[in-house]
Amino acid sequence: MNRVYIKTYGCQMNERDSDAVAAMLRARGYRIVQDENACDIMLLNTCSVRDAAEQKAIGKAGYVSHRKKHQPDFVLGILGCIAQNRGAELLDKLPDVDLIVGTQKFHQVPGYLDNLRAAREAGVPIGETIIDIAEEAGSQNTIKDHFVSEDAAPQVNAFVSIQQGCNMDCHFCIVPKTRGDERSRPMDEIVAECETLARRGVKEITLLGQIVTSYGRRDYAHTAGVSPFVQLIEKVHAIDGIERIRFTSPHPRGFKEDLVEAYGRLPKLCEYVHLPMQSGSNRILKAMNRPYSRERYKEIVDALRAVRPDMYFSTDIIVGFPGETDEEFEQTRELFEACNYDMAYIFKYSIRSGTPAAELGDQILDEVKERRNQVLLDILRKNSERRNAILLGTVEEVLVEGPDKNGLRFTGRTRGNRVTVFDADPRLVGRLVPLKIDRASVSTLYGELQLAGVESD
Ligand code: 5AD
Repeated sequence: MNRVYIKTYGCQMNERDSDAVAAMLRARGYRIVQDENACDIMLLNTCSVRDAAEQKAIGKAGYVSHRKKHQPDFVLGILGCIAQNRGAELLDKLPDVDLIVGTQKFHQVPGYLDNLRAAREAGVPIGETIIDIAEEAGSQNTIKDHFVSEDAAPQVNAFVSIQQGCNMDCHFCIVPKTRGDERSRPMDEIVAECETLARRGVKEITLLGQIVTSYGRRDYAHTAGVSPFVQLIEKVHAIDGIERIRFTSPHPRGFKEDLVEAYGRLPKLCEYVHLPMQSGSNRILKAMNRPYSRERYKEIVDALRAVRPDMYFSTDIIVGFPGETDEEFEQTRELFEACNYDMAYIFKYSIRSGTPAAELGDQILDEVKERRNQVLLDILRKNSERRNAILLGTVEEVLVEGPDKNGLRFTGRTRGNRVTVFDADPRLVGRLVPLKIDRASVSTLYGELQLAGVESD
């Protein structure tokens, strides 16, 4: 009765939340299993950002709930954004769900499962679904405890949640509803968590939040023009053992001089920036309630490339926002091409009820969205091929993360966040090593480690 399978949909924040739930459950004596067919409890940690993501998780829950026919004690829980967004209404479609837990209540999951399990074991008839989607003051501080089990592979990189929620009110976005108001964790707690991770051998930290560039803006003052977010990066940078720092996601509005300049003086800050553009049309940006212009966006990209000419960029784009004309999409295409992204997440606009954009007329036909999507994907593929051609024959610094997915070779990422695959000794896991690139596919680089001169343990 204690085998738990957790399936995660959506963003890195959700991955992080699932890791935290898994850690809390392990600490309570539950077993986290990888085989969904061999579990007593299934938790779906869900995403609401687009309709397709919601349908996927709801479809899965519907399918899995049939299991109760032959496994009457089976427990099914829906966690995270869909739970928060829909609450009890989920029971219309999914009457057999046992647990609905929102984004501020992940830390309550073990207690609720204990209760459900005790009831099952006592033979008490299955009662009402437990629903908890209330707000909770201080919930941003609950997603923190990493738990590394004895037999777990050494952890090389870690996501550290620095903030929850978002107050930007982008007109297409459901996140303010699913994640609530912007709340930052105290800086010294984040730094203490990173120090603990460093002591456990973690080398790379990714600072996570919905709008990390706003970190601490209500809680800490700027010091000599340096924002609280950059102050936090400086503190993590000073931790011995941490070799690389990344963050996601920033907002262009928060990319001020202090952050740009940090890339010039903080060598652990990896030269990879995910900078959501959303649209290259000033009229659409305004309609999206994104407070910057295409000109300002390009200025940030250029400023970052001036500080780090080898900077890698990725972005988020929405095609087919209500009312987007061919000319407006053409402006997005043009800016997309000019920024020369290495990676991009391109989304077809999806109506999210309760958001201001859902009320706009002039929704764009699906086939038009699809065509615009393909135009950007083609540019991205060409950029990637061009970048790969430049990388062939060069030596990149790689952080060795562990066995690749086939378990035959090893994998790690470059500072520019490219996945690499190579032969290595298990003792190199957690080490920064030079890799000579000799082959590249769209998403992966292959090569040989250059170990002469790298001191061994
Ligand atoms: N439709 C399509 N894409 C969306 N995103 C957020 N809301 C929507 C929506 N309604 C995209 C944005 C955001 C990313 C996480 O998801 O590009 O940056």
